[in-house]
Amino acid sequence: LVEHRVDDLLGRMTLPEKVGQMLQLDARNDVKEIVSEKLAGSILHTSPAKMLEAIDLVAKTRLQIPLLTAEDCIHGHSFWPGATIFPTQLAMAATWDPALVERAARVTALEVAATGIHQTFSPVLCISRDLRWGRTDETFGEDPFLIGELGSAMIRGYQGGGLADPTGILATAKHFAGYSETQGGRDASEADISPRKLRSWFLPPFERVAREGCQMFMLGYQSMDGVPITANRWLLNDVLKEEWGFTGTLVTDWDNVGRIVWEQKVCADYAEAAAVAVRAGNDLVMVTPGFFEGAQEAVARGLLTEEEIDAAVRRILRLKFEMGLFENPRAPDAERQREIIGIAPHAELNLEVARRSLVLLKNNGVLPLTNEKFRRIAIIGPNADDPQSQLGDWAGNSGQVDWMPDGHPRELIETVLDGFKNVAPANWDITHARGADIERLVPDPAGETYPDGQPRPPISQAAPVDDHLISLARDAAIRADYAVVVVGDTVNLAGEHKSTATLELQGGQIALLDAIAATKTPMIVVLLDSKPCVLPPSALNADAIIQAFNPGMRGGRALAELVLGLIEPSGRMPLSVPRHVGQQPVYYNQIRGQHGTRYADLTQEPLFVFGEGLSYTTVEYSDLSVSDRQIWHDGTIEASVTLRNTGTRPSLETVQAYVSDLVTSVTWAVRELKGYRQVTVPAGESVTVTLEIPASACSLVTADGRRVVEPGDFELHVGPSAREKDLLRVPFRIS
Ligand code: IFM
Repeated sequence: LVEHRVDDLLGRMTLPEKVGQMLQLDARNDVKEIVSEKLAGSILHTSPAKMLEAIDLVAKTRLQIPLLTAEDCIHGHSFWPGATIFPTQLAMAATWDPALVERAARVTALEVAATGIHQTFSPVLCISRDLRWGRTDETFGEDPFLIGELGSAMIRGYQGGGLADPTGILATAKHFAGYSETQGGRDASEADISPRKLRSWFLPPFERVAREGCQMFMLGYQSMDGVPITANRWLLNDVLKEEWGFTGTLVTDWDNVGRIVWEQKVCADYAEAAAVAVRAGNDLVMVTPGFFEGAQEAVARGLLTEEEIDAAVRRILRLKFEMGLFENPRAPDAERQREIIGIAPHAELNLEVARRSLVLLKNNGVLPLTNEKFRRIAIIGPNADDPQSQLGDWAGNSGQVDWMPDGHPRELIETVLDGFKNVAPANWDITHARGADIERLVPDPAGETYPDGQPRPPISQAAPVDDHLISLARDAAIRADYAVVVVGDTVNLAGEHKSTATLELQGGQIALLDAIAATKTPMIVVLLDSKPCVLPPSALNADAIIQAFNPGMRGGRALAELVLGLIEPSGRMPLSVPRHVGQQPVYYNQIRGQHGTRYADLTQEPLFVFGEGLSYTTVEYSDLSVSDRQIWHDGTIEASVTLRNTGTRPSLETVQAYVSDLVTSVTWAVRELKGYRQVTVPAGESVTVTLEIPASACSLVTADGRRVVEPGDFELHVGPSAREKDLLRVPFRIS
């Protein structure tokens, strides 16, 4: 039936109407021009008022084809004041909990759908390797298996009962593919990546969700081996559509089609670019208004046939029919917004996600501060009471849209300072000192405009050390029993086009940490940052270190609860943390061996490794065994391991199973995560955990690009992190 309706509608459309359907345009611009002149099929970044205007204008078009409205709702409805803003995707990854991530995505969908948005540009399935990349916070970290688990869960959560579910939103898996393999961490640089490397690590999360039926993929910005992603027919067509059977819709990234003219310069004009992009398999063209004229000219010049345009438009119309938009255009619903946005159960789930996302990285026994006696706590640091850093990027707080100048209401955000005030016993003395600034925006020293006249955005410059702020903080620490020092980065140092040259704490933060350490007051360092920072000795020597990332609206409360021992720490690192920026990349699943794996002046061991995280007890792993050491290539490895909690508090353990292929036809990763289970081990008790890994998962990509399982000897490594010393081993053989 859908195909019949698509055929019928397509048969009645003119070429301009077809090309217009392919446009996804920025509704911050003139909506009348977008809808009535360019006949755009989709809009993004729309204010509530512009959306209503656009809907009215569509009703006046000849065919009244409903708009697809899209937004970057990555960890909540970024641009709706009062919506539930969860911890960032990277923070959510630290929960390692697909069911929790699915529930968070479901809440986001419910809130977003009520505002008339149909599509979210999420989840990000890119792999984080060079942490200088400004979009590290948008990822699920460095491991393809974990990314696949959490990405798949997030898509399920967004889409609820399926495409036609009006309480759901269309998920977009992005950025297809290899975008994060930057040079020097710089966003959208040429990705130095071979098809084999792409297949080995970067494609698997995308393949998984494509095969599970994800209906929308977004491209990255980069080119690979000289081919802009927008023109990569091999990847978009041969791999995605033909090999994986993807029948969904592709959307470019921002002005990708224009970029192949003015930035990557592989096409002379928009007609050529339109032809190249459509031929490669693109459907929705994000924010290239010139595509409207360019594509029509391409047909007129014989660069493109109308049938090729039809194929793309057919996919867009099919999507709209399958989503039921013709029957129910899913307009904003004010009553539903009042019923659903930011409601108490959503705030409660948000707190739960934040609690689970906090990673305790170091504890010399100072934590938890459970003693009920009177305490004085100094909450120090530039991120201790900063609502913007609390929420992180894509949360209406970094100037992306103009209709919510004040961002999300301050009273909904519990900073770390708020958290302690709300959670600590009423008679405790909670003081606050900012202590340092991080950065400030200054005009780009290269000039105020690019050579083509476009304005250059300001850049971030480290703030100077402020001795007065430090001395106030030092005094607060001296008067306190404990100093909680909250350091990190800012929203100006995270996001698209906001990669950083260094990972060190900026501005006055190192001087602040040194000053507080010198007071000898026990110091708990909280890293409230978009991505891991490199730590100075004063932070490394602190009594405790907690990685909080951007923990969302309720994150400050969750943090206080953790410090006070009201909850158990359970987060585990979704990526590895370098000791020095020069170690980048330092991900755990590196190609093994070779003397190039270390420096003369520095180990290549990460400071904290993927999977790592402490609890308030000690859990011993023992008795790893597999039921059969000899399995067939279509069999399953069944393993069991015993966990013994030797302490007095429970622990939610993330039992991680890695596979190492001992001899391979090509060089391969030292070990790779193939499965994990989360289990609570009560205080003083033992629990036996079983894990199942299909032999088919023990594959590699051969020199000619085929993914195969090579029969032979393997080892299963099981433990609480990817660190060598944390892992038990057992051999097995695949025939
Ligand atoms: O969704 C984003 C994408 O991740 C980066 N460029 C802009 C898009 C729309 O805002």
